Amino acid sequence: MKKTLVSPSLLSANFANLQADLNIINQSEADWLHIDIMDGVFVPNISFGFPVLEYVAQLSKKPLDVHLMIVQPEKFVNEVKALGAMMMNVHYEACPHLHRVVQQIKDAGMKAAVTLNPATPVALLEDIIQDIDMVLLMSVNPGFGGQKFIPHTLDKIKELRALIERTGSQALIEVDGGVNLETGKLLVDAGADVLVAGSAVFKAPDMADMIHQLKNL
Ligand code: DX5
Ligand code: ZN
Repeated sequence: MKKTLVSPSLLSANFANLQADLNIINQSEADWLHIDIMDGVFVPNISFGFPVLEYVAQLSKKPLDVHLMIVQPEKFVNEVKALGAMMMNVHYEACPHLHRVVQQIKDAGMKAAVTLNPATPVALLEDIIQDIDMVLLMSVNPGFGGQKFIPHTLDKIKELRALIERTGSQALIEVDGGVNLETGKLLVDAGADVLVAGSAVFKAPDMADMIHQLKNL
């Protein structure tokens, strides 16, 4: 059986001791490390910026899955690339020239992902789905960890899977927000390939075991 990919979200880590948390992630079965960058404009919160992330990138042995919750994300393609990121996620809602941004990300040698807020329809991806490596479906309104999962995401996964199959796209389906063992199981059954989990992993008594369980749902 194909195992689910797991991308723990650093937003819920202990920022006063990132090295300790990163050591645990490095030694775990986590596939990627999910990095949430916020600007206080696109979302009503600010997380961390590139000076912090340069240290995180040095310490992480996992490929970086960078989620930009900022306006004009195209301004930061080079900075994300300089971190050595594997994947750059930009929001559909933040990119009037989405096709151009996707090409810039790919030209920089990274994989390109498009993120949809909960109220943004999957059908809007029709004309970009064949150009991207992943779709990130938000299952909470972005900006904060620890929020409640929005169940309508399950319908969106099924619709997205149908779009991917119809168009022959190779895009993975990642889901972010309120993911735990219970919602994770529903998501995997609905067709998700990658689970982002913040509080479920970093607040777990045994982080490595939680990652193991999420991978084997
Ligand atoms: C929310 C972020 C998420 C967040 C998820 O805006 O994009 O990645 O860290 O946190 P949990 O898993 O606690 O909902
Ligand atoms: Zn995220």
